[in-house]
Amino acid sequence: MQSNLRNLHVAIIMDGNGRWATGRGLPRIAGHTAGAETLRRIVEAAPDNGIGVLTVYAFSSDNWKRPQVEVDALMELLACYLDGEAARCLANGVRMSIIGRRDRLPDSLCESIDDAERKTRHCNLLQLRLAIDYSARDAILHASELAAGAQITRERFEVLLGETRPVDILIRTGGEQRLSDFLLWECAYAELVFTNRMWPDFGPFDLQRAIQQCAHRERRFGGIPQAPAAVQDHWLR
Ligand code: IPE
Ligand code: IPE
Ligand code: MG
Repeated sequence: MQSNLRNLHVAIIMDGNGRWATGRGLPRIAGHTAGAETLRRIVEAAPDNGIGVLTVYAFSSDNWKRPQVEVDALMELLACYLDGEAARCLANGVRMSIIGRRDRLPDSLCESIDDAERKTRHCNLLQLRLAIDYSARDAILHASELAAGAQITRERFEVLLGETRPVDILIRTGGEQRLSDFLLWECAYAELVFTNRMWPDFGPFDLQRAIQQCAHRERRFGGIPQAPAAVQDHWLR
């Protein structure tokens, strides 16, 4: 079913891979591998759900604290994902870009990132942004440094933050109800959806349900309640 909403920026905190795996007696990395499959399916389903920009949290700057063996496996899996998906994204009109620091990533992953971004740079059906070694607080600090104390507007600051636009809907799987340093600026007026579903079990139907559930919410942006027709207007661009 097609969404009646258009050009949404949806952000997803893809959480719960580890618990999904350990609950099945599997090593945590099996959960990450299953999670990469979920991401493939969700990217495929995104345009039909009215999504124009999809930003997903793949590895936080705080995830370096994890055991080295898990970090190494995640770096390898991310490179594999990018290498494997670049051609499919190109064929499906999906532009891939990576947000976050690159200077601490393995060279092989940086090469995969450059390659995927270069191959898909002209695609314009969907923008897929993967957050790798990402911290919203660090991104805000970095943009502030670039602004160098000058008087700037919010719009200009958003360009310094990474040419993004506000998040309409933020979904977090895995049952936790926190942002874990993800898109703190961009989520100022995002509608939040928390689901107990672990990320490897999250499917296109869950995505559709999360978005449809938000379509009935009134976005007031600090204003006062509107006539019912205006509620839908907030979601249509
Ligand atoms: C999210 O799943 C993926 C990453 C953080 C890389 P987790 O690995 O955090 O899974 P849980 O929360 O331990 O179940
Ligand atoms: C957030 O999940 C990071 C990603 C999903 C990549 P975490 O599992 O790292 O977050 P916390 O530690 O539970 O807050
Ligand atoms: Mg987690």
